[in-house]
Amino acid sequence: MDVARIDRRGFLAGMFAAGAAVSASANGGRGETAMPAGNGPLKVCVFSDLHYHPGRWTNTEDMSFMEKILARAERERCDMVIHCGDLLHGVRKPEQKALLKLYNNFKVPGYHILGNHDQDGNPYEETCEAYRMPDGHYSFDKGGFRFVVADPNYFCNEPGKFIHHGRGNYFKRVKGSTINWIPPEQLEWMRSVIVGSPYPCIVLSHQSFERGHGAPVMNSKEVRAIFNEANAKKPGTVRLVMNGHLHIDHLRILDGILYWDVNSANYQYYAKRHDKYPEEYMKTHRSAWNNIGWKEPLSAILTMWPDGRIKIDGSKSDWLFGVSPTDAGYPLFDEDGRETHPEIQSVDLAFKVAIDKR
Ligand SMILES: [Fe+2]
Repeated sequence: MDVARIDRRGFLAGMFAAGAAVSASANGGRGETAMPAGNGPLKVCVFSDLHYHPGRWTNTEDMSFMEKILARAERERCDMVIHCGDLLHGVRKPEQKALLKLYNNFKVPGYHILGNHDQDGNPYEETCEAYRMPDGHYSFDKGGFRFVVADPNYFCNEPGKFIHHGRGNYFKRVKGSTINWIPPEQLEWMRSVIVGSPYPCIVLSHQSFERGHGAPVMNSKEVRAIFNEANAKKPGTVRLVMNGHLHIDHLRILDGILYWDVNSANYQYYAKRHDKYPEEYMKTHRSAWNNIGWKEPLSAILTMWPDGRIKIDGSKSDWLFGVSPTDAGYPLFDEDGRETHPEIQSVDLAFKVAIDKR
């Protein structure tokens, strides 16, 4: 595989002092001990937007998509699994509890982030508890990296009054409301855990911090200013920012940071219905006519080395029932010009870093 080389100035390699122990915090209370920093690469199985909802969306008639993703994580000997939100539409139903039991108790430790839908069926605090998160936003250190989980699932019916998603309340927001905010206190928290972090930071959020369209985070410029402030002070502090939500596979390098739109494990959504799936299937998947599904689940293996290399081994599937967006009369590209396809691309980036001799 070709290795792209991207120049970055003055990366602080000294942060990877051999043997420096990193203690995990806010990791759901499991008391794991993180690997010592600098002990080699960290391997993470990544997926997003499974939208497990039996009876409604494509590929959710059983847990096989989840099982296949977890089997890959185990096969590839990953250190952890993480999803970029919209795993579920609530945590109260027996089938939702069953999926969570599988994910939370799997032998490879699984982490969660909140999507806009994960608390549709209950207050968001209940989802946090079931997801073993201390709050919607939290951070933990693992394998010499700091994972910063952001929570932009807030809307404003009036300026400055931030309401967290819960029980589907955002479907009833008033005319003129705005959605996808990082409230000021959370912005401050992000600054406190990112700027001056002793470890390179991986930032996760369900909604995008870099998109122009497709419901990006409203105050994403302020968030990116924190990333850039951190990198100006200590180059290489923020190296990867990941999101789900748009069910699109895309990579972009902005201000020397890799921004990754993680594709859905399952399908693309369209507001307009189609009639291309078999009638029998529609009887058991009542909203699948709003989906263009993938045949097999998509996931990626993200491997990160302390010296700046980031490798993504994606996956490729096919259209469910052979029906593409074009076949169903949908556009292939979204407003940002990003293409819907059943794939997570692979890439191998070696960020050229300078050694700090201090
Ligand atoms: Fe979403």
